[in-house]
Amino acid sequence: MVTKRSIADAPVRGRRVLVRVDFNVPQTSTGAVADDRRIVEALPTLHHLQTAGARTVLISHLGRPGGQRDMRYSLRPVAHKLSALLGQPVPLAEDCVGIHALEATARLKNGEFLLLENVRFHPGEEANDPAFAAQLAQLGELFVEDAFGTVHRAHASTVGVAKRLPAFAGYLVEKEIRGLSRLIDHPERPYVAIMGGAKVRDKLPLLQSFLGRAQALCIGGALAFPFLAAQGAHLGATAVETGLETEVQAFFDAARASGTDVHLPTDWLIEVPGEPDAQACPADQVPEGALARDIGPRTRDRFYAALAGSKTVFWNGPLGLAEDKRFAAGTREVLAGLRGIEGFHVCAGGDSARVAQDLGVEAAFQYISTGGGAALEFVQGLELPGLAVIPDV
Ligand code: 3PG
Repeated sequence: MVTKRSIADAPVRGRRVLVRVDFNVPQTSTGAVADDRRIVEALPTLHHLQTAGARTVLISHLGRPGGQRDMRYSLRPVAHKLSALLGQPVPLAEDCVGIHALEATARLKNGEFLLLENVRFHPGEEANDPAFAAQLAQLGELFVEDAFGTVHRAHASTVGVAKRLPAFAGYLVEKEIRGLSRLIDHPERPYVAIMGGAKVRDKLPLLQSFLGRAQALCIGGALAFPFLAAQGAHLGATAVETGLETEVQAFFDAARASGTDVHLPTDWLIEVPGEPDAQACPADQVPEGALARDIGPRTRDRFYAALAGSKTVFWNGPLGLAEDKRFAAGTREVLAGLRGIEGFHVCAGGDSARVAQDLGVEAAFQYISTGGGAALEFVQGLELPGLAVIPDV
């Protein structure tokens, strides 16, 4: 496991500490914070800085405003939520660079916080523009990387600043490295991966990375469609990601040689237009006009059987349309089944943590990552630029 220079060793008292956090949180239709998990997970670092007497300057993005000042992506609701969680006001600087931000950081007293407005309001952020990174770096004397969810992005606020200031890993980043490293540094076997969700093209490298490393790989949800289509299954009116024939064939070839058992759905719960209730059908015989929406009961049993006796489990992505209660059973039942299996169970990526929470099965996991794409890249063993730039110890 890689160990990074830690915030615990940073001389922060009385110093302006620039902390990259990932406060890219889901919002309600009125803009309020809908899920504060990422903010809560940053608290150990923030409490440390508060009690150690640092002058903390927080930097984050929210959404993808595309380098424009688009107030739908303002961090103001996050500032309110954070103030409540920390029990002290956290003012929002209206811009993350410029004279006003500089003056606001200069006014900070020991133990105080300032949150900078969305760093992605500037095109220099995603371009990792050196001049923009230099402007950000002026706001602090030390840099702490605690935005685990963003360490796969080589942006000005993750990499550019870290190259310009003494850089340290925050407690959340350390915790994520510890938790997720258990999946790549000799995971306890049998190791089973359960993958669902959509975006097959994006997830193929991760699926491939399990071949030979995991004893079994269970694929459900929309992720399974192109694999079944390649085997000649009829999927009715189900939308299947296309243009992946070569990659899917290569995956099957690699799977055969890998020793990893790949389990695809053998039945579905389908939606038939005009029918209110879900119906079951074999996975390769979805009727004309119908849509595959969830793995069926036989597939659930197949996935349970693959999980029996496992010691390490990785889960990413729902196995059906979990937001529709008619099609949530596959995900809910398989994850609920994990509760009865002793081992180290990790939930990571995208909205998976939220799905687990909504379905009431969070307790099935020993570790829930705050990372979306970052966690999925970490688990593949890829080098993440925002981590690579923090010195190892
Ligand atoms: C995430 O939610 O995965 C991170 O905040 C990164 O966001 P991004 O995919 O827009 O870079």
